[in-house]
Amino acid sequence: MKSVKPTIYVTRRIPQAGLDVLATAFEIEVNPHDRVATREELIAGVKGKDALLCLLTDKVDAAVMDAAGPRLKVIANYAVGFNNVDVGAATVRGICVTNTPGVLTDTTADLAFALLMATARRVVEADRFMRAGEYKGWGPMLFLGQDIHHKTLGIVGLGRIGQAVAERAAGFHMRILYTSSGRARAPKEVERRCNAEHRELADLLRESDFISLHVPLTESTYHLISDEEFDLMKRTAILVNTSRGPVVDEKALVRALKAGKIAGAGLDVYEREPECEPELRELDNVVMVPHIASASVETRTRMATMAAQNAVAVIRGEIPPNLVNPEVWKKRAR
Ligand code: DGY
Repeated sequence: MKSVKPTIYVTRRIPQAGLDVLATAFEIEVNPHDRVATREELIAGVKGKDALLCLLTDKVDAAVMDAAGPRLKVIANYAVGFNNVDVGAATVRGICVTNTPGVLTDTTADLAFALLMATARRVVEADRFMRAGEYKGWGPMLFLGQDIHHKTLGIVGLGRIGQAVAERAAGFHMRILYTSSGRARAPKEVERRCNAEHRELADLLRESDFISLHVPLTESTYHLISDEEFDLMKRTAILVNTSRGPVVDEKALVRALKAGKIAGAGLDVYEREPECEPELRELDNVVMVPHIASASVETRTRMATMAAQNAVAVIRGEIPPNLVNPEVWKKRAR
């Protein structure tokens, strides 16, 4: 008798290395369009499948899980952040949720630092100026920015990525402050290695020249940075966000930038992606990129392999390496 392979729906084409791993265990269906699957496409695609490999742009809620039906055993998210998946709903239904931590830490930290530097040294503005043929000769006042070395960097969330940003800042002899969402302090060993001093959020905002956000999006970090927080920052401060857009109240950010409450912002993420507050596009003191913090060939390939390995493990009855809701596994073991 012909053996029937389990099935998986992949919501958008991922690097081939990931598809190759999936092919060892699954019959694969990939969204054929090079765009985010619509809700209808997502529901139709996942229907009757054993597994789902999805992206941060897919909202995977209870309705999607119910549409999939009782065969669905794993939702393998192709991202470290998993705020797009209703983990509670998955747990109730006995579905494993997995993510891709670790592999994108350095790549994301690199981009956070690139945004910090580009904003402080006005790299994008200066690039536009050159391209427009406006450079008429060296000038003592041309594109004066801010020093980065020996300044104070406030890291909001000293997890894996926050720590990697601190390591980069060490090369610039920066003073490092940090605050944690949830936990009061990082372990002593982490504080020592990162040379980071703990501060309450308000003090960190008052003292920092640069503020870089590295917290997950949860109920408690939604609009963590809003009008009140901008009021505390230095007028010369630069905010960098490579975490999740809704951690910053984007309208309040526009107000702060326009009023000169802060000096600039380097942004990878937006509150309502792919939209952003239109006024952000008009501000020269904002450097904006389209959610590309993990976008290197090597990292996206590792993320694909990792997400695929998670899905394959579950289907083979093995505990997946990056299980977000271990309660599901405990229930199975009983
Ligand atoms: C993630 O993984 O959460 C990033 O935002 C995208 O790589």
